[in-house]
Amino acid sequence: MATVFVTGSAGFIGFHLCRALLAEGFRVAGYDGMTPYYDVGLKRARCAILSANPAFTQTEAMLEDAAALGAAVRAAAPRVIVHLAAQAGVRHSLEAPRAFVEANVTGSFNLLEAARTVAPAHLLIASTSSAYGASDRMPFREIDPAEHPLTVYAATKRAVELLSHAWAHLHGLPTTLFRFFTVYGSWGRPDMAPMKFLRAALAGEPISVHNHGRMRRDFTHVSDIVSAIRLLIDRPPPPPGHRPAPVPGDTLSPVAPWRLVNIGNGSPVELGAFIDQLEAALGRPIARRMVAMQPGEMTATWADTGLLRALTGFTPATPLAEGVAELVAWYRDHYGDAPRGSS
Ligand SMILES: NC(=O)c1ccc[n+]([C@@H]2O[C@H](COP(=O)([O-])OP(=O)(O)OC[C@H]3O[C@@H](n4cnc5c(N)ncnc54)[C@H](O)[C@@H]3O)[C@@H](O)[C@H]2O)c1
Repeated sequence: MATVFVTGSAGFIGFHLCRALLAEGFRVAGYDGMTPYYDVGLKRARCAILSANPAFTQTEAMLEDAAALGAAVRAAAPRVIVHLAAQAGVRHSLEAPRAFVEANVTGSFNLLEAARTVAPAHLLIASTSSAYGASDRMPFREIDPAEHPLTVYAATKRAVELLSHAWAHLHGLPTTLFRFFTVYGSWGRPDMAPMKFLRAALAGEPISVHNHGRMRRDFTHVSDIVSAIRLLIDRPPPPPGHRPAPVPGDTLSPVAPWRLVNIGNGSPVELGAFIDQLEAALGRPIARRMVAMQPGEMTATWADTGLLRALTGFTPATPLAEGVAELVAWYRDHYGDAPRGSS
């Protein structure tokens, strides 16, 4: 079986993707800097599960270390590269913007350089719904302009979208960008709302609900994200001159084997409704403290899922109640009912 090189392999989405690829029989070469942005113990626990499979290896190094990254990519000689490693966190980008430029722009540039030397059949790169920024045309369609990012996080991800387009054009590297919409599920990120809410609820503390709950998010279960990535791996964008009939709403570049695809649930819910689901799954009430809108936040996200469906036949469809129950069951199993899970 072929090798897939996955950056961010110890991260939330990377872990789930690697596990699915290993189960299918792929060899997986992971690459992760195990950054201390959140609990490194959680990253090590994910990595330990993956490492139980002899088809998994992981290099522990930073994207910013171009020599280490280049050597790891060349040693793996992968057929496919999935680039998920990034400094994530909309709010953290207000406090530490430089880390975002270094990891996401310089680091992703290093990855593009390394990819060029091995010419994989397909390079797939994570971007974000935050790229839509101040856009207010709902649902968000990939072909709509995304020129007004609200945070440095969003701006660095938008930069990677554009850098990768130039690379695909100059070097003929088939490249797919995905814009993920608020991902949740087991082994989730302690800095994101679902895990923060669970930790507070089990500690008997009130949670802070931004913009008084008047916020809609297109919560997408991580299993749907992995299914979509897996299907897209087998659909590298064709080069110019070898195009079948156009797909409606396609972002396929006229000058490069490059496209951008939303991966979202396509059914946004109010933050309050998400918290209601957490309460139902936990079987206990969650005290809510209403607070103002935070700088850089978007009031709503909503994925148009038409392009993903046209390309793969797949639409994310995990019902919220089912996805939240999966998260809560894992959280209780992993942390017990003690108030932990954040650092
Ligand atoms: N989780 C979401 O809701 C969401 C939404 C939109 C986009 N994304 C994007 O999806 C990707 C994966 O996100 P995630 O939720 O799994 O995040 P995560 O933080 O759990 O995983 C990222 C991994 O990358 C590693 N990493 C970070 N900076 C690095 C660096 N400079 N060098 C080497 N390794 C580094 C971290 O150690 C971590 O294990 C990211 O690109 C993120 O921006 C996630």
